[in-house]
Amino acid sequence: MPTKELLVIGELNVDLILNQIEGFPEIGTEILAQKMNLTLGSSSAIMAANASAIGVDTYFCGLIGTDDFGTFILNSLDSKGVKTDFIQKTSEHQSGITVVMSYDQDRANVTYCGAMEALTYQKIPWADLTGFKHLHLSNFFIQKGIRQDIVKIFEKAKSLGLTTSLDLQWDPENRWDFDFKNCLPLVDIFMPNQAELLALTKKESLDQGLEAIAPYSNISVIKLGDKGSLAVENGKRISAAAFTNDNPVDTIGAGDSFNSGFIKKYISGSSLEQCLEYGNLMGALSTTAAGGTAAFSSIDTIKKTLKEKFNSEY
Ligand SMILES: Nc1ncnc2c1ncn2[C@@H]1O[C@H](COP(=O)(O)OP(=O)(O)OP(=O)(O)O)[C@@H](O)[C@H]1O
Ligand SMILES: [Mg+2]
Repeated sequence: MPTKELLVIGELNVDLILNQIEGFPEIGTEILAQKMNLTLGSSSAIMAANASAIGVDTYFCGLIGTDDFGTFILNSLDSKGVKTDFIQKTSEHQSGITVVMSYDQDRANVTYCGAMEALTYQKIPWADLTGFKHLHLSNFFIQKGIRQDIVKIFEKAKSLGLTTSLDLQWDPENRWDFDFKNCLPLVDIFMPNQAELLALTKKESLDQGLEAIAPYSNISVIKLGDKGSLAVENGKRISAAAFTNDNPVDTIGAGDSFNSGFIKKYISGSSLEQCLEYGNLMGALSTTAAGGTAAFSSIDTIKKTLKEKFNSEY
């Protein structure tokens, strides 16, 4: 019998966010930012942090450098209750970082991948990863070490008896080189957003995109932004409307928050309708505060916001 709930295998980085910047950077000049914030970044870490915040027993397996950013990442995950036992440190690579230059709703990002690219199938401590119910993996394209062995990773997880989910995220190189025909049969819940599904399948409409993956996918869950989400299982479609938030602060991490809510319910054996609804609720919750994790700062804050903004229970 599994005794641990969720294992997230994935990338770890910090976000260094510069706000209120006076103009745009130019070679040979210096400009000033009036605000700076160093925070936990990366899709996988945000999903894990928010899953833990809503009561899922969550463990992270990843790679960081032996540097201060690595320590910051460990402390951030620790403070969210995520178990960091399977996070390894390497002196060969520095921890990943994204420098975010934020201009109102637009952002210019520069990412240094470092250790994020160096996690491979061989480096995952499989012998220690026993007793889990579920594996979630996110941000496939930027993890070069994980990419080459993605089928092997999901085969291994299935052989260990885990249920599995995958959120590809966007491909920064726009090549969409993901072997979905061989991988999706091993993924219980495939969770792209609509734009990612269309780019992956090279199709123009949601219907065509879903048709292209149908022969290979088990359950597909498509995130539709403020339109909510859609699940497809054995050709049957279930839609769930988004919770209305008239004044979203930003939508950073909404998809990862959706994933944490959906997977919480999925692990506990809820129906797909309930999983979608709770995913939507957590996605909407994420839009009520800046960045990916701020809305999940404590159970009391979560309960209060859900009640006040969405008339919903935790
Ligand atoms: N403006 C919004 N208002 C209410 N709910 C929202 C809003 N934006 C997103 N959501 C909720 O969050 C879920 C996930 O958001 P979205 O579709 O943007 O995912 P994503 O594109 O994968 O996001 P990310 O950029 O975080 O990876 C949606 O399905 C919806 O339920
Ligand atoms: Mg996403």
